[in-house]
Amino acid sequence: MHGQRDAMQGGAAHDERPVRVWDVPVRLFHWALAGFFAFQFWSGETGGNAMQWHLYAGYGVLSLVLFRILWGFFGSTYARFASFARGPAACLRYARQLFSRRPVPSLGHNPLGGWMVLAMLGALALQTVTGLFANDQIATQGPLADLVSDAWSDRLSSVHAWNFYVLLGLVSLHIVAVLYYRLVKGQNLIGPMFSGVKRVPAKLAESAAPRPGGAWRALIVFAAALLAVYLVVQRPF
Ligand code: HEM
Repeated sequence: MHGQRDAMQGGAAHDERPVRVWDVPVRLFHWALAGFFAFQFWSGETGGNAMQWHLYAGYGVLSLVLFRILWGFFGSTYARFASFARGPAACLRYARQLFSRRPVPSLGHNPLGGWMVLAMLGALALQTVTGLFANDQIATQGPLADLVSDAWSDRLSSVHAWNFYVLLGLVSLHIVAVLYYRLVKGQNLIGPMFSGVKRVPAKLAESAAPRPGGAWRALIVFAAALLAVYLVVQRPF
């Protein structure tokens, strides 16, 4: 923590060290989610026969989001919400240098980026849950639409429709921010989302305490998320 503050105040050091910040599950989650998001955009806009696949892919997104929420409690150090849900003081301190060209390295998500991640996960959760109850006024309805009245299904469908634009806004801002870091602040955030490894100033690296999440734990958490979605969608009992 002190190392992080020193690096924020003192500027980037030349002596850099690699730190494993993103575990495999976070990286798989991220790129699978980005793929699903593009597919849901296309299938939702196309409608018709694509709607059946929109529903299947929606269960995929719901499983991913549920997994990521659980992984925020059981995952490796920098996957945990506790490591990146920072208070207003840290966010303000960070925001003051946002528009300077000086890079401000951080181990996991930076304080503002952390809130962006939470906002995206919240909007994705709202999107997937409302989708379960939605109908398209033609031939497709979510698997739980019969549990609510037609009026409620219509209301939740309109939340599903406008929240998509909220998501689109958040994702666009997310991508612009990542490019801004690359082009203006000279910080490459995209590479670590593939490799898992960030190069940070030695002083900051010394304060790192990466604790792995564990492959078995990830598999168990993912299986639990899949099972929960299966039970909700199929309602076998
Ligand atoms: C080409 C498109 C994209 C690129 C280049 C990209 C890049 C990145 C990068 C570099 C990070 C890590 C940021 C950091 O270091 O703090 C990140 C995190 C994240 N991105 Fe993206 N992203 C893309 C698309 C998306 C899309 C479409 C979504 C959502 C629908 C998304 C959701 C997220 C989330 C939730 C995280 C947090 C990861 C975690 O902690 O689990 N990204 N992204």
